[in-house]
Amino acid sequence: MTDAASSNPFHDPLRFEKRIPPCSVLIFGANGDLTMRKLLPALYRLAYERKLPSGFSIVGNSRTAMTHEQFREKMRVSVEKFIENSPFDAALWEDFARGIFYIAGDISDPACYLAMKQQLDQIEKDRGTGGNVLFYLSTQPSFYASVVEHLGASGLSKHEGGGWRRVVIEKPFGHDLESAQELNRRISTVFSERDIYRIDHYLGKETVQNVLAFRFGNTIFEPLWNRQYISHVQVTGAESIGVEGRGAYYQEAGALRDMIQNHLLQVLATVTMEAPSQFESDTVRDERAKLLRSIKILKPDEVEANAVKGQYGPARIGNEDVPGFRQEHGVNPEAQTDTYAAVTFFIDNWRWAGVPFYVRTGKRLPKRVTDIAIRFHPAPLSLFNSGEISPAPNLLILRIQPDEGISLRFQSKDPAGGGMKLRPVSMDFNYGSSFGTRTPSAYETLLLDALGGDSTLYTRQDMVEASWRAVEPILNCWNNTKYKFPNYDAGTWGPKASDEMLARRGHTWRIP
Ligand code: BG6
Repeated sequence: MTDAASSNPFHDPLRFEKRIPPCSVLIFGANGDLTMRKLLPALYRLAYERKLPSGFSIVGNSRTAMTHEQFREKMRVSVEKFIENSPFDAALWEDFARGIFYIAGDISDPACYLAMKQQLDQIEKDRGTGGNVLFYLSTQPSFYASVVEHLGASGLSKHEGGGWRRVVIEKPFGHDLESAQELNRRISTVFSERDIYRIDHYLGKETVQNVLAFRFGNTIFEPLWNRQYISHVQVTGAESIGVEGRGAYYQEAGALRDMIQNHLLQVLATVTMEAPSQFESDTVRDERAKLLRSIKILKPDEVEANAVKGQYGPARIGNEDVPGFRQEHGVNPEAQTDTYAAVTFFIDNWRWAGVPFYVRTGKRLPKRVTDIAIRFHPAPLSLFNSGEISPAPNLLILRIQPDEGISLRFQSKDPAGGGMKLRPVSMDFNYGSSFGTRTPSAYETLLLDALGGDSTLYTRQDMVEASWRAVEPILNCWNNTKYKFPNYDAGTWGPKASDEMLARRGHTWRIP
């Protein structure tokens, strides 16, 4: 057990029953989309499940002038709207809302931090929160470092009475390797690594956590989990929506930064990492980091063959005329942004050398689906192939969302006709029918973990840097090339070049 873990009385390595000490959460950017859609619904849901301690309090901050009461009302409306598959309990809300406060103020003004300090001291006195505070940074990323420095300068990053102070940093953590290092350098002067929680909400998804359970809680799959049995792997993170009012942010970020550098590389690491010796924050993260560091870094002249950049154009989907990316609000009509990215990664270690990992993501694809498809080698002899097409090799699909579950495709004898004719069939596990319980959202899981001092599902600086290193040659090459966009229609599976990238190795994208 690490020092950090052993000195934490709330430590629960297998995370069976979180015991959260009395505490508050202070949210920067409390008037923003993330707070309304994700954070408040998740906190309310934790309260509904009686997982939060008594006296639990929330302080929201943004520039907009609002009273505590107005902020509570705004949060009530968004919680009612965005809690998924859960009832809204008005009596519980009354009680929960008594612990919600609001401080309007400019985060570049020291006076704002003074007001927050007074509010937190008052809460500590009135509601017994013991000085424990989780700061949640959900502002524009360019403010992260200076907010943390203000927390340091105002004395808010420490508590004289011995309460803990932690900070959650929303993605993106930097926009390239250098800025990620610089951000880390600045926040590390205020908080120590064990109090910095870099969030990647994909790691909090139940189905992503289940990949570890599937691999390391069973014996039958792991012996096959290597280059000898696996031909290639496809990781798809497809979205049918466009940029939904986030055009200005997205135009600067693009799909590779927005989804692959963080979420999908973390998913890839979860599928390919070695087993940790214990289920402990640092041992698990050591293995993830080691894997991310093993990703082969493309040389500049290898980028074109291994990475595809796409941008959607206008199309009619069903009865709807969908604008192209360049016609979206806030987007430069000549933007070179990638709304689609597909990359072939290789992992330079003994388990995976030579196995292609095809990772793709995009906006305005035909449907919303995230899954991992593991394609095994074909059988060495086609015993049952009397001149017809040889049977499809085994396929294991880990469905992250929606329709969460796992399917194994294999060949079976088709009883029709009497001969040895094979047909692919599927063995399915479905969360809904197997468990029948509601799955906690990623933000519920991650907030509870941060409040309980467990960083297993948060990223560490070495992981962030390794994944920036893996995408940086691609970003550099794309920056220096002018593309003829759009190159795929909204509502289709991306540019032709993406199919060609796989075809060069004799593979095709699976239609999820
Ligand atoms: C966010 C990206 O991090 O993840 C968004 O910024 C994307 O562009 C979202 O839509 C996808 O998350 P989820 O949980 O809906 O798959």
